[in-house]
Amino acid sequence: MFVYVKRIAVVALLLVTFLVSPARPALALDNGLARTPPMGFNNWNSTQCRAEFNEAMVKGIADLFVSRGLKAAGYQYVNLDDCWARPQRDGSGNLVPDPARFPNGIKAVADYVHGKGLKFGIYTSAGTMTCSPIGFPGGLDHEDQDAKLFASWGVDYLKYDNCNNQGRDAVERYTRMRDALARTGRPIVFAICEWGSTRPWLWAGPVGNLWRSTGDIEDNWNSVLNIIRQNSVLAPYARPGAWNDPDMLEVGNGGLTDTEYRTHFALWAMMSAPLLIGSDLRTASNATFDILTNAGLIAVDQDPLGHQAYVVRNSSGQWVFSKVLSNGDRAVALFNENATATTITTSAAQVGMNAAASYGLRDLWTGSSSTTSGAISVTVPAHGTAVYRVSGGSAYAGRQLVSQASGQCLDVHDNVVVNDGPVEIFTCNGGANQRWNFTPAGELRVYDGTRCLDVFNGNTAAGTRVLQWECNGGANQQFRLNANGTITAVQSGLCLDVNGGATTPGTGIIIWTCHNQPNQVWS
Ligand code: GLA
Repeated sequence: MFVYVKRIAVVALLLVTFLVSPARPALALDNGLARTPPMGFNNWNSTQCRAEFNEAMVKGIADLFVSRGLKAAGYQYVNLDDCWARPQRDGSGNLVPDPARFPNGIKAVADYVHGKGLKFGIYTSAGTMTCSPIGFPGGLDHEDQDAKLFASWGVDYLKYDNCNNQGRDAVERYTRMRDALARTGRPIVFAICEWGSTRPWLWAGPVGNLWRSTGDIEDNWNSVLNIIRQNSVLAPYARPGAWNDPDMLEVGNGGLTDTEYRTHFALWAMMSAPLLIGSDLRTASNATFDILTNAGLIAVDQDPLGHQAYVVRNSSGQWVFSKVLSNGDRAVALFNENATATTITTSAAQVGMNAAASYGLRDLWTGSSSTTSGAISVTVPAHGTAVYRVSGGSAYAGRQLVSQASGQCLDVHDNVVVNDGPVEIFTCNGGANQRWNFTPAGELRVYDGTRCLDVFNGNTAAGTRVLQWECNGGANQQFRLNANGTITAVQSGLCLDVNGGATTPGTGIIIWTCHNQPNQVWS
């Protein structure tokens, strides 16, 4: 009888939750593209609008992609940036290629690129004009016509900028182009470029395949460092088909040392960033090619799990990043922001690995392998980054927390538990996704993300299994994880609370209330 009543209650709860929940957006733009971060080339960082941006350059890059092993390394897209068009549309309202730069038109260039087994990309703006002060027409209110033209040329990738947007709503402008691209029937990667100004990581997942998270990168150390600071906190939002884009690579453009360029490339790979080469490969050094074709780092960037590295620690400019990889390895980066060499130390446990007698360490810059009982410690040069692929540790044997219904406040992302063992992804009040894992000791531990729902002070109380959460600056929440897998409230809180202060006995089902929203049911 009790079970029967309980079932009815749960069904009713599911129904109420379903009825009051708004439609949930798809996990990511459903165009099947960019399941790993796009890799390729874009001319902007090396040429801007100078005359050397022309057909010969673009074809030359495509040639080098093949002859210098970039295609084999995974680079695919050869993309044009701003200034490819004439300042006026033609009599039919179509965009026209600049005849001085592209005397044979754009389709001829796209065909050439495709002939090399590569893909081709183009640029315009979700505004009346693009960003160049020279003044080229943008795509706003011309979405269908421009998308059709691009598709007819064989475009595979569109970077859609934000200049001259007339103050119109970003979600509306980008959604219109998303839909116009879909109507062409051609698979076209959609790169949103609104510089992070409307926090696109909160809305752009179902709209674009990637979104710029910052202003324009420049070929100097401060710019690269600022972008690392801004983009590294966005780890919870990256996922297959939907990437934070900290902007195109400056590697090889001359404003940084090779050590700094190695940091730039390594951290872009750790952050699952698009790898769009921004230097003129026709004049690039061997050191530049070596950085850009580092197979170990490209594998980290392209790992199919699609988890952006999270920051384990950043103290006094000593950074530790950890990235979960699909085979259970971790990529670990030790980044020295400071101007003098320093020793950075972490451990397999600190970067989230399970206990093991020994771990394998592969240095992704030197290729050398070693083992450790846990300590990872290295002297890192000024502005340098050491990166390891760490293997070992027992397979995850903990519990998973699975939502029983979709809710409005705290919910497993899209009702799917990420299938890499321990990690759960929650959304909270439309804020950042929250990732958590159960440790082998049975503690639910923050995995990354610090915005909405977080372990108080970043720590559980070790050994006690008491979890402390804070939620949107509200009162701390304390929960106890019981031996049978249930969670009980230690104290009553204001924001997220076990319903009635108790779990449903014996079943492991946990009912939470959150901000007076429908109850959340988990087991
Ligand atoms: C903006 C973009 C850049 C580049 C230029 C072109 O600044 O953010 O990446 O495309 O426009 O004008």
